[in-house]
Amino acid sequence: ANSVPWSPVVLSIDIGTTSTRAIIFDDHGQELAKHQIEYSTSASEGSSESNTEQFRRRSSLARHNEPIFSAEGVVITVNDNVMIENNHASVGPTLRFPQPGWVECMPVHVLANAVQCIIACLLTLTKVNHESTVKYRVKAIGIANMRETTIVWDRRTGKPLSNGITWTDTRTSDIVNHLQRTTDDEVKEKLKKMTGLPLSTYFSASKLRWLLDNDDVIREEYEKGEGNLMFGTVDTWLIYHLTRERAFVSDVTNASRTYFMNLDTLDYDQELLDFWDIDSNRIQLPKIVLSSEYYGEFNPPNLNYLGFHNKFTEEAYAVLKTLRGVPICGCLGDQSSSLVGQLAIKPGLAKCTYGTGCFLLYNTGTKKLILNHGTLTTLGYWFPTLEGEDSKPHFALEGSIAVAGSIVQWLRDNLKLIETAKDIGPLASQVSDSGGVVFIPAFSGLYAPYWDSGARGTIFGMTQYTGAPHIARAALEGVCYQVRSILRAMVSDAGGSDDFLDSSIEDHNNPLSLLMVDGGLSNANEVLQIQADTLGPCVTVKRAAIHECTALGAAIAAGVSFKNVHERIWKDFDDVILKVSGNQSSIFKAKLSDEDRRRNWKRWERAVDRAHGWLEE
Ligand code: G3P
Repeated sequence: ANSVPWSPVVLSIDIGTTSTRAIIFDDHGQELAKHQIEYSTSASEGSSESNTEQFRRRSSLARHNEPIFSAEGVVITVNDNVMIENNHASVGPTLRFPQPGWVECMPVHVLANAVQCIIACLLTLTKVNHESTVKYRVKAIGIANMRETTIVWDRRTGKPLSNGITWTDTRTSDIVNHLQRTTDDEVKEKLKKMTGLPLSTYFSASKLRWLLDNDDVIREEYEKGEGNLMFGTVDTWLIYHLTRERAFVSDVTNASRTYFMNLDTLDYDQELLDFWDIDSNRIQLPKIVLSSEYYGEFNPPNLNYLGFHNKFTEEAYAVLKTLRGVPICGCLGDQSSSLVGQLAIKPGLAKCTYGTGCFLLYNTGTKKLILNHGTLTTLGYWFPTLEGEDSKPHFALEGSIAVAGSIVQWLRDNLKLIETAKDIGPLASQVSDSGGVVFIPAFSGLYAPYWDSGARGTIFGMTQYTGAPHIARAALEGVCYQVRSILRAMVSDAGGSDDFLDSSIEDHNNPLSLLMVDGGLSNANEVLQIQADTLGPCVTVKRAAIHECTALGAAIAAGVSFKNVHERIWKDFDDVILKVSGNQSSIFKAKLSDEDRRRNWKRWERAVDRAHGWLEE
């Protein structure tokens, strides 16, 4: 067996807002092993369904794309031997909604879920290696993660000092509104140029400010000023623990979402820290690193010590230890990661990922554009080992929507309109229109291009005739209309006409005539047809052949990180494009009449106007 050469593969860990998955990819982007856990939430703790039942239901729901090797049996074995015995209930809820507008995550559970997914993947890989003639070995580890979510922990113990405040949490509305009112317009303009971001509850800065002001333990430590406080986003938290506290780093794409990083220097900026009154001598900020470089080597974290009293089997621990020493060498914020995974790695390409939220990124190459109509400027990726232009930092324009997949979760868990997430498409397509209902899913305020932290979810236009299918359809339309608003804003900022979407004919000249989509919600054909209908004939919607673009992006980052080109999984981007391509993408084009589209769009705009500023009224 020793004579069989090993084929190097990459393990990618994708920490989303509502689920975590780990996938092992080969150099063709094929999934050799995959495992996903959808988080349980404290909102469902009181339900009659046991945690184990809930976990089984959700995890079978979540695993819609099976690995190419029939690993199903192994995954089930893993569930029974590791997860169930490990008892998902003892992992406890990963997400908490303790007050209206508050969304917290439990950092240790985030880590434990990732470890479980890794173990499951490694067990599958063992089986694959046993059964196939080709033998695979994990050579590199990449991480993609939800951005902005803010975690503070103690250097001495590595333990979190509070729950993480997730990006969707709006508890800092007052802090942000106060700064909005009291900051001069020129200063706001300057800040926007430095960070690429508007003032919003969305980014990490206000969340860290809130913790320093309101959490007694964190405030006391900060006042003592002994340097024991550590701040990080989810990438930092994970890499810190997966390297047994050796690496305290944040990749540049994640750091660009904190509001502490200057997009010109690609480093922390004292002026920005001063604006938020953060003293970096009292709280340590992670070192900003590139998206593709060596951060540290994998070493299994001590979950017991961190307070997660697991019952991983000996077999599970043994398999985890086989990963010891493998470099963690790729990291991207999840939206940057899906930009790379969609292979939108040339300027002028755009992708839209429908995950918990929905994020449209337009690759502007090495040009940093700061625009006026509500789109953000963000770091796309930075892969220094590549040649020429590809080795430089790449920027993107971003339109962020806070609520996409989470509206489906809400319809399922809170309103009980559907039993499983995949029932949403069929329910919505029981009717051909929303019957005049407009649903503004502003659960965390409205993000791009409106940026109104004071807006809240609103349903307009209901009558006695309104039924569940109309609400479901209106909820999906609410996501798709926001995508339309973002495209409109981007094109108008780029000098195009802001009514280009009203055109009744296809137009391939506009820079956004093709929208490459991915993410959970995009698996529903009904959703993508609604999206195509709201955009009109000017834009073609194309679903990626590869479903797991986010995880793939981080795998690519890790795979090209080696300085020696012969060490890499992919030599360069051309090699990635050559090997990682699928030919089964699906195309969606508008079918709705122009008249209906224009009428519906006006209705949406009217509804948005009314939903604005709800909290201030
Ligand atoms: O900025 C938030 C984003 O990174 C979260 O992504 O995949 O959880 O919707 P997702």
